[in-house]
Parts: sequence; C-alpha cells; structure tokens
Amino acid sequence: MPSSLFETAVRDGVVLKPLEPWHAPAFAEHMDRARDHIRPWVGPAFVTDTVEGARATLQRYATATARDGARIYGLWDGERIIGGVMFVAFDAGWGICEVGCWLEPGAVGRGLVTRSVALLMEWAFEERGMSRVEWRCRTDNLRSVAIARRLGMRSEGVLRSSWVFDGSRYDKEVFSILREEWDAARPGSR
Ligand SMILES: CC(C)(COP(=O)(O)OP(=O)(O)OC[C@H]1O[C@@H](n2cnc3c(N)ncnc32)[C@H](O)[C@@H]1OP(=O)(O)O)[C@@H](O)C(=O)NCCC(=O)NCCS
Repeated sequence: MPSSLFETAVRDGVVLKPLEPWHAPAFAEHMDRARDHIRPWVGPAFVTDTVEGARATLQRYATATARDGARIYGLWDGERIIGGVMFVAFDAGWGICEVGCWLEPGAVGRGLVTRSVALLMEWAFEERGMSRVEWRCRTDNLRSVAIARRLGMRSEGVLRSSWVFDGSRYDKEVFSILREEWDAARPGSR
C-alpha cells in the first residue's frame, strides 16, 4: 500500500499522522482495545463506545484545528490505530499549548509516545514559535509522569482533588517546559 500523505515515522514501522473524522471506524475499533486501559486517566468524553462517538471526538478536534486550536494525531501500525498524541489546547496568541497522549495496552513500553510528543514539541517551539508546553496528569499516573520527566519538563505543582474517576477524587500534577529550556537541552545547543 502506498504510504499516506503527511505521515512521520516514529519507530518500528509505526507512523504518526493526523486523525480526521473519516478515520472514525478505525478509531472506534482502537477504542474497543484501549477503553478499559485509558478510562481512569483521560477525560470521560474521550472514551466512546460507538463509531458515532468516535466520529464526534474526531470532529471536535477537526473543528478546533480549523481555528488553530487543539489537534490530534494517531499512531498507526499499518491500518491499525494503536494510540496517539494531541495538543489538548493550543493558543498561538499566548504562545502556550498542552500536549497529551494515550496508547492501547499492547503498544505500551515501546517508547512511541515519548518520541511522538517530542515531535509535537519540536513543531510547537520551532515552527509555531510557542513559549511554553504543558503536561497535566493524575499524580499517580506514573507512566505519564515518566514521559514528562523524560522530555525535560518540570513539575509546577499539584492541583489537589481536581480529577474525578469512578466516584473518587484524585490529585493532578502540572508539568511544563519553556522554550529556552527546550533549546538548551537540544543536542548541539550551547
Ligand atoms: C501514558 C502512556 C501513554 C505511557 O506509555 P509508555 O509506553 O510508558 O510511554 P512511551 O511510549 O513513551 O514508552 C516508554 C517506555 O518504553 C520503553 N522503551 C522501549 N523502547 C524504547 C525506545 N526505543 N525509546 C524510548 N523508550 C523505549 C521505555 O523504557 C519506557 O518503559 P519503562 O517506563 O517501562 O522504562 C500509557 O501508559 C497509557 O496509555 N496510559 C493510559 C492513558 C494515559 O494515561 N494517558 C495519559 C493521560 S495524562
């Protein structure tokens, strides 16, 4: 099959490319594999049960992208979506964005998300001139915290009792990296 337009190689044949409303059937199939694994850690609106639900998620992102807001990218292993990364928020005027991620269980532990988020950060800082990239997760989401730290982000503090899941409340941690910190950490930078 010819490779798709606008895709970037991540590793092991897995590519990153924009997720659009017409990908709803593949996204719904992926959601069937990912649902139980991601539900405690991502916003409830993201965890859908039907193709129409999947399409609504992708349409929400498409509408935001058309306004230079949020964006979503799938990690594709051939014709199968195995996870993805997104700009949860993107404010070019203020130079601030937030990145997020998810994987289905079989894709965990391969370094796919760290590499993909690094690509989003590179685009945000280099091409879009952003000043600050944020990461927010439950404080007990150790795999998510590890990604923020691997990417050179700093913890800015904990939003106490600000995440609700299954009738319980959890703390949320905010991480960020500033443009100058990202520049300084790049190979070859002074
Ligand atoms: C958060 C989540 C995406 C992290 O997945 P992950 O696989 O740990 O993250 P990465 O894709 O960056 O992979 C890093 C892991 O791959 C390993 N790895 C293997 N090959 C690698 C390579 N070539 N390069 C880098 N890391 C590699 C790393 O050692 C690390 O594993 P370790 O933590 O056991 O040491 C995943 O746990 C998930 O989907 N959770 C549920 C949804 C969620 O929490 N989303 C985030 C909400 S804030």
